[in-house]
Amino acid sequence: MPLQAHYVLGHTSVEQQRLIRQARVLAPLTERFLRDAGISPGMRVLDIGCGMGDVTMIAAQCVGTAGHVTSIDLDQASIETAQRRAAAFGFENTSFHRAGIAEYLPSNPFDAIIGRLVLQFIPDPIAIIKRLYGMLRPGGILALQEPTWKLWLTYSAHLPLRLSVTKVAHDAFQAGGASTEMEQQLYQGFIACGLHAPQLRVELPLGNSPEIRSLLPDLLAALMPNIIAKGLTIGHLGDLNTLKDRLDQELDTENSFASYVALIGAFAHK
Ligand SMILES: C[S@@+](CC[C@H](N)C(=O)[O-])C[C@H]1O[C@@H](n2cnc3c(N)ncnc32)[C@H](O)[C@@H]1O
Repeated sequence: MPLQAHYVLGHTSVEQQRLIRQARVLAPLTERFLRDAGISPGMRVLDIGCGMGDVTMIAAQCVGTAGHVTSIDLDQASIETAQRRAAAFGFENTSFHRAGIAEYLPSNPFDAIIGRLVLQFIPDPIAIIKRLYGMLRPGGILALQEPTWKLWLTYSAHLPLRLSVTKVAHDAFQAGGASTEMEQQLYQGFIACGLHAPQLRVELPLGNSPEIRSLLPDLLAALMPNIIAKGLTIGHLGDLNTLKDRLDQELDTENSFASYVALIGAFAHK
């Protein structure tokens, strides 16, 4: 019995590799956020929706060998890959378990609970934030990073092809039941827990490296089964086999740079 019937990005090995490439670009944003939130040596941390384990490994560095990161994901193959990667990178202070966020029951409260790009896929994120709050010790830290697409769309406004592709990806997420603007839900979730002054941060990935340029066509490819299933219009994007080259040409012609989905972060102490 699957823990979740539908997940818009799927759990294929191609998607696993895409998540790892995406995580390389997002790593500095998440490390800054977690350190700012106070994730520090010796802490016992829970990482929700760990995927390939990239956020887990950043947290494992922050907590050091005296600390520990427990990670959950609803997908068994992701858990196995994350476990393998953490071991290959030498992180002995991590453990991985298959569990859905709505069902997971820890035996002890955590010093901190973190997560990146996961509550956006959950129908009632505010209820889940309240559930996570219940798993924290008094004084513990809740630190969550979720997407906000409006900055990305704005930063693509002068690039017609890039904007069109970004809009299709945006619509595919929404058609697949995922939220694309999480700032209100995050804020309201913290308030519902009685955390009346969450610290808020937003950071937009920008740059012109091959890695950041590739994230958008990569994401579109990952969303393609859902785009087809939902009958979204893509004819205006032209030949998909040449899309990546045309996106690069547009950046070169405009002498401009690429952006990607911004991360809105909220953190507070219980
Ligand atoms: C976009 S990936 C992000 C992975 C990782 N946090 C990162 O930022 O690289 C979302 C992950 O959340 C997991 N996920 C989605 N819904 C979940 C749920 N209800 N419980 C646990 N994991 C979930 C998916 O299986 C997937 O691995």
